[in-house]
Amino acid sequence: MSDTARPTPVAAPRPTGAAAPAVAHLSAETVTRARELIALYPEPRSALIPLCHLAQEQDGWLRPEAMEDIAALVGVTPAEVYGTATFYDMLHTEPVGRYLVSVCTNIACLLNGAQELLEHAEESLGVNAGSTTADGVITLEEAECLADCDRTPCVQVNHRYVGAQTAESFDALVADLRSGARSDEIPDHGTLIRVRRTTGLEADRARVAAERAAMAEAQQGRADEAAAAKGGNA
Ligand code: FES
Repeated sequence: MSDTARPTPVAAPRPTGAAAPAVAHLSAETVTRARELIALYPEPRSALIPLCHLAQEQDGWLRPEAMEDIAALVGVTPAEVYGTATFYDMLHTEPVGRYLVSVCTNIACLLNGAQELLEHAEESLGVNAGSTTADGVITLEEAECLADCDRTPCVQVNHRYVGAQTAESFDALVADLRSGARSDEIPDHGTLIRVRRTTGLEADRARVAAERAAMAEAQQGRADEAAAAKGGNA
């Protein structure tokens, strides 16, 4: 994501009381959204991954100072945030281009030319998989199965499916990304598709109780049938 496309980080007010966490990097808007997310969970630390996505949406990747802010907001150590972030493929602790292009080389794609496509991508972009082009626009990565095995070789851009690609269509895709022709469909790296949640983790307790009762009744019915069948065979 270009720097101009992101909100300028604004230093959040330093806490005046002992309870307010110190946040220095995340923008005021991001911190507001972070606090809304934290309020959805019984424990603040449960919002750690959503907050990582928020920070990644702001900066395009998880900067160390953003991870320190997240740690302060949810009450864990920066090392715990880093440990969580490095576990998940969608979270990046190093700079990523505006577009993260993922080429699947798992078995279904491999059998349909994924390796050749990846080699073409490396050559045409002038980078090895895992690297970013000199203009900072595209990061190329080799991916494991992207769960679209009937359209191979599968490619994603910023975690959006762009369908099976040939060398020619890949070059056209890259040209579109560079010109901004697909920016409506594929926003900058870090922007999630999901609708932002504004309500808490609430369940309809009456409905859950009714479903559990129905399940117990069904189990009892099957047990009774099995017992009757066993008695009839004796
Ligand atoms: S093997 Fe490539 S998407 Fe599943």
